[in-house]
Amino acid sequence: MPQERILIVEDSMIVSLHLKSLVENEGYRVIGVSDTAEEAVKIADESTPDLVFMDIMLAGEMTGIEAAEIIYKKHKTPILFLSALSDKNTIESAKLTAPFSFITKPFEERDVLNRITLALYKSTLEKENDRQRMAYIIEGQEMERARVSRELHDGLGQLLNAIKLQLEAIDPACSGEIRDKTIQLIRQAIHESRRIHENLLPSRLLDFSLINSLEELCHELSGPSLEVVFQTQDFVQPINEQQKLALYRIAQEALQNAIKHSGCKKIIVQLYQTEEHLQLTIEDDGQGFNTSEQFPGRGLSNIRFRAEAIKGKLQIESNPKYGTLLSVSAPIHL
Ligand SMILES: Nc1ncnc2c1ncn2[C@@H]1O[C@H](COP(=O)(O)OP(=O)(O)O)[C@@H](O)[C@H]1O
Ligand SMILES: [Mg+2]
Repeated sequence: MPQERILIVEDSMIVSLHLKSLVENEGYRVIGVSDTAEEAVKIADESTPDLVFMDIMLAGEMTGIEAAEIIYKKHKTPILFLSALSDKNTIESAKLTAPFSFITKPFEERDVLNRITLALYKSTLEKENDRQRMAYIIEGQEMERARVSRELHDGLGQLLNAIKLQLEAIDPACSGEIRDKTIQLIRQAIHESRRIHENLLPSRLLDFSLINSLEELCHELSGPSLEVVFQTQDFVQPINEQQKLALYRIAQEALQNAIKHSGCKKIIVQLYQTEEHLQLTIEDDGQGFNTSEQFPGRGLSNIRFRAEAIKGKLQIESNPKYGTLLSVSAPIHL
């Protein structure tokens, strides 16, 4: 029996009841019936349905097409438009919104059920394609990071060390202050190049556990005006390499975001393990942000895809009063 969750947005009670019983008889779950587009957007945000039936002319201000546009853009939910209007323009603009079906009322039951199956199938393929594409991008990113990191270490790092040795060999008596200052600058450059190297390719992840690596990372980011606390427990079950890298990168980006954007004073990073799940949370006490906005940056979408790659569930709660809480819960056994 299918257990896909369906939202019905329709202002005719008769039509929505008919649809509801039709799809429920087929084994689908109806998670909501709404008669306005505004409410539909809200329900879709709260409980991300797998498919939406959307009437075009609705009671509120917003039309079904506008609501469909918002819902599809945000959640990639397939939309099946329902309308009595056989007006050509309406059908055209509905088609533009999302590449999903258009059903004219009164409908044929079999036809509706076939379209549901098809729309769900297409949507699964689309999501799988997105996931694959993102997996390639992330893999490419890691390879590029590894390459730049090697260049930095083997090229620039060696060069800086050689300059430092040369400078140290100059007789201090005849060079004095300039020599000391230059050595100091070179030391800083070496330190900086190591830091970038470590950031690109966290070698500590290879040498240490995820717990130690996160502890180090938090320690490094702490300073006089920012406290970064790490809390954890002893882990009973081992974490595999893919999970380690994904969770580390998520923590890295979330910490950078908190530091760069939130103006926080304190960040708490927690890593816990239950019998079945790994749970990573990063919480800051900064100014928060609007999580439903679309951002052009890559950071948050990378976090999302990294979480998905380890079958994790990502949640971001943000509030100007309390700051931001980002959490990922991933199954221990992939
Ligand atoms: N912890 C946070 N506190 C406040 N704002 C945040 C936080 N995390 C993300 N943001 C907001 O989300 C936006 C998108 O983040 P991201 O995708 O990582 O891109 P970038 O960091 O490159 O701007 C940021 O520009 C910022 O406005
Ligand atoms: Mg960022």
